Amino acid sequence: MRIYTVKDYDAMSAKAAEIIAAQMISKPNSVLGLATGSTPIGTYQNLIKKYNDGIIDFSEIRTANLDEYKGLTPDHDQSYAYFMRTNLFDHVNIDMANTNIPNGLVEDAEEECKRYDAVIDALGGVDLQLLGIGNNGHIGFNEPAEAFANGTHSIKLTDNTIEANARFFASKDDVPKYAYTMGIRNIMQAKAILLVASGEAKADAMYKTICGPITPEVPASILQLHSNVFIVADEAAMSKVNK
Ligand code: F6R
Repeated sequence: MRIYTVKDYDAMSAKAAEIIAAQMISKPNSVLGLATGSTPIGTYQNLIKKYNDGIIDFSEIRTANLDEYKGLTPDHDQSYAYFMRTNLFDHVNIDMANTNIPNGLVEDAEEECKRYDAVIDALGGVDLQLLGIGNNGHIGFNEPAEAFANGTHSIKLTDNTIEANARFFASKDDVPKYAYTMGIRNIMQAKAILLVASGEAKADAMYKTICGPITPEVPASILQLHSNVFIVADEAAMSKVNK
C-alpha cells in the first residue's frame, strides 16, 4: 500500500486527482472505476479544473461506477447516475455512451448483476478503481458480512449505512433499502485502486483497513492483499493509524 497522509480534505482531493490524471495521461482510453458519496466530490472538482486547464482529456475515457441504489430512476436527484452527471460527466468531454452504472430499475437482480459483470469484462477490466470507505469499513456497498462477495450483486443496506446516507434524503425512510454493487472480486481485479478518506468518522475504519486482520467484517481490509493500492487520507481519517 502506498499511503499518503495529507493535511485536510482539500489536500486529499488534490492528491487523488493527480493520481487519476496520471492514469488518464499514461493511458487515454483508461477504464476508471468511479465512486459517489461526499468524499470524492472534491477529487472530481479537481479533475474538472484539470480538464478546463487542458491537462486531461476524457474523450476516450471509459467508466464503470461501483454501485447504484435499487428503485431510483437515473434522474432522481439521489441516484448515483444523477450524482455522476452533476459532479463530473456534465462538466467534461466524456462520451456518455462510455459511462456505465448499474441499472437500479432492473427488478431481476440476477439479470442485472450478470449484465454488469459482462460490461466490466467487455471493457477489459478496470485500470484504476476509486473507492470511498464507509464508517463500518464498507467499500462500494459491500457491507460487513460473513464472507467476501464475488461479482456484482444486490445487497440489503445495513442500518448504519442507511443512517449515514439519510443526510442526503428528506428522511431516513426515503433512503432505498437495497442497492446493486460491484463485489469484492470486481474491486480486487482492478489493476490499481485509489482509496480516499477524510474526517474523524473514518478513523476507526481506516485503522482496521490498514492495521487490522483481513476479514469480511471489515470489507476494506481485503485491500491489504492487492499489490497496487494508493491510500490518500487526511490527518483526521488517519489519526488512529498514525498515533
Ligand atoms: C459510493 C460508495 C460508498 C461510499 C462510502 C463513503 O459509491 O461506494 O462505499 O464510498 O459510503 O461515503 P462518503 O464518501 O459519503 O462518506
